[in-house]
Amino acid sequence: MNNEQNMMNKFGEEVLHGLQQTPKSLPSKYFYDARGDKLFQDIMAMEEYYLTNVEFSIFENKKAEILEAFLGKEKSFRLVELGAGDGTKTKVLMKYFLGQNVDFTYSPIDISGHVLQQLKDNIQNELPNLKMESLEGDYFDALAQLNTNHNMKEVVFFLGSTIGNFNLLEAISFVQKLGDQLNPGDLLFLGVDLMKDPQKILTAYNDPHGITKSFNLNLLSRMNKELGANFEMGQFDHFPTYDPITGETKSYLISCCEQDVFFEALNQNIHFEPWEAIFTEISQKYSKEMLQQLADKTGFKSVVNFMHDEMGYLNAVWEKQG
Ligand code: AVI
Repeated sequence: MNNEQNMMNKFGEEVLHGLQQTPKSLPSKYFYDARGDKLFQDIMAMEEYYLTNVEFSIFENKKAEILEAFLGKEKSFRLVELGAGDGTKTKVLMKYFLGQNVDFTYSPIDISGHVLQQLKDNIQNELPNLKMESLEGDYFDALAQLNTNHNMKEVVFFLGSTIGNFNLLEAISFVQKLGDQLNPGDLLFLGVDLMKDPQKILTAYNDPHGITKSFNLNLLSRMNKELGANFEMGQFDHFPTYDPITGETKSYLISCCEQDVFFEALNQNIHFEPWEAIFTEISQKYSKEMLQQLADKTGFKSVVNFMHDEMGYLNAVWEKQG
């Protein structure tokens, strides 16, 4: 079986598993096919999706302090970025680091070779002096590989509130697993969206342009394309919620009528009751206390927070404990 067939099978298996459960769910990682990547870029460019600009402005305004926190007593480090995407925000910091003659190597890790190649071309143009060693694959495999080959202080970037796409229990096990791959003294640089005005959060996930709706519905188009399903886009709606007590922002696709969807590639029929929901994504918003608990439970110590008070977003530097 070739790699593509393998991935199609995994997609089919996970889709079927999620849609045969009650309540129904789909893994949010499947948002990101080529169209989903483009829609996510469009989301990040929207004013309503404040997260991107806020993180950008923290980097612009706090470059020197961020560098100070990264260096500590060390003279050099490896900047490892998980899910680097187009690296736009990281470039702001890296430009500054290079200007300060800091000795560092950039190691973006991404599951997509295509994304990494684009990033490489782009970096070679803009920052020709940057030392770069990209790694294609699963985050943990790639980190393990780094650790067997090198012995340099690592600063692991996990930006853009991507940690929010795990629920709290998943976040704990993810950060713990990450910590297992690090040495005491290594750092984690996390972008975290905080609890704030519920309306602001809801608008970020239910924008008036309909881009987030298209992003969510794209999961259905993807199943039509790749699994021969016959979802009717007009029969499903995008429905986000925010719980100001728990900080959970959840997105759903709602079946607007009773209907059956047939998956040709899986030879399976899925029944939907009227107004039945498919849970598609969590975007957890944190309180500072929750974040502190996450650090405590996973063997990290908080070093410093770079906080945007007005917009309720922070970049945290955590140090792996011995
Ligand atoms: C990638 N991730 C951090 C985004 C988020 O905010 O949860 C994905 C997203 N979903 C809807 N809008 C953006």
